[in-house]
Amino acid sequence: MMRDFEGKDGIMQFGGMSAVEIAERFGTPIYVTDEQIVRENYRRVYEAFSRFMETEIHYACKANTNLAILRILEQEGSCIDAVSIGEVLTCLKAGFSPERIMYTGVNVSDKELKEVVDTGCRINIDSESELERLSEILGDKRKGFPISFRVTPGVSSGHGTKVMTGGKGSKFGIPYNRVMDTYARAKELGYDIKGIHAHTGSGGNTTDPFIEVVEVLIELTNRLKDELDIHLEFIDFGGGLGVPYKPQEEECDVNELGAEITDMILEETDVKKVCLEPGRYIVCDSTILLSKINDVKDAGPKRYVGIDAGFNVLIRPSFYDSYHHVALANKFNKACVAKYEVVGPICESGDYIAHDRILPDPKEGDILCVYNAGAYGFSMSSRYNSRPLCAEVLVNDGKAELIREAETMDDLWKHQIIPERLR
Ligand code: LLP
Repeated sequence: MMRDFEGKDGIMQFGGMSAVEIAERFGTPIYVTDEQIVRENYRRVYEAFSRFMETEIHYACKANTNLAILRILEQEGSCIDAVSIGEVLTCLKAGFSPERIMYTGVNVSDKELKEVVDTGCRINIDSESELERLSEILGDKRKGFPISFRVTPGVSSGHGTKVMTGGKGSKFGIPYNRVMDTYARAKELGYDIKGIHAHTGSGGNTTDPFIEVVEVLIELTNRLKDELDIHLEFIDFGGGLGVPYKPQEEECDVNELGAEITDMILEETDVKKVCLEPGRYIVCDSTILLSKINDVKDAGPKRYVGIDAGFNVLIRPSFYDSYHHVALANKFNKACVAKYEVVGPICESGDYIAHDRILPDPKEGDILCVYNAGAYGFSMSSRYNSRPLCAEVLVNDGKAELIREAETMDDLWKHQIIPERLR
């Protein structure tokens, strides 16, 4: 079931506080994260696997790179899946040691690869070209340098075609039929080959693809041992664990998944460590987006609720047609009367947050809460229509703290230059 929150006298409560008070104190639109939920989610998924075998959770920080949230996960003992030098540097700044960060890029430039090498973090290679270019960068230092490879498993999953990554012909990973040759080449070059990795896609609602991808990784692991005498330390089956976005949607049983996957690895290989890269699972339901209703319009066949957050703040509905549950925080659990389109202030007809939702008599000034906003919410937000990025707040046990200030117009102008001749 989707995570829901308590109401007290018609007011939504979040992290032991009134959501309406948070909106009033910090302004809207605003992302609000409950620290305890981040911790609970991390512990649940870690324990589901670690009770059976050595486990590393590589939090896929693309979901949410706020430094305070990264600090929480650093304290929990998490490792990191980073996709860019920017993410690597952000995680270092948040206090992660380089050994706890694994960089998996795609279409990586030489410049970025050099910078990543300089940080000392772990490198997971996505292509044969990247392997050769890394070898040039390392020179003599490549002997004994630890690496692993992302492979294309031929298994794909996800909430939509835009986020499916593991199918045959994908731009990601070493193509299945090149895997053996690539590992052989890495061995010849003298690398210390640590593991194998694949990612099927993001946010699907079944666990079958995880079983399928682990089967592929196990088969490859055993072939590497038998055919090339390469003994891997870890199998990393990627991220993609879905979470329920709709009230009645079922959640994925991570305990069952943990039992099944660790059993497969322990039974069928000599590998001692499993890694996984959940992003959404750890932060999605920890965060709500609070917005204010600016405008209510009856447009004949449709009624509109216009809020102060559009696809500049949360792009997932417009971009993926993703469902996000919404509720009025100041009329929480009140009887609902009519259906509305919940839309933002961006000048495009595709700018919407929710279609066709029954709401309790929404009025200007009401606080509309968007659920499940912690993953790919702020991290995909933009300044489109010259709207500065919004603020973020962390709530813990009834106390709220700002963890990102809202940008100002000066931030938007800061890096722009009007050439002298145009002044
Ligand atoms: N590992 C790799 C190699 C990935 O590419 C991704 C996500 C993850 C892990 C984490 O996936 P997660 O556990 O969060 O599903 N912006 C989209 C999701 C894009 C995911 C891209 N890769 C969305 O808003 O749904």
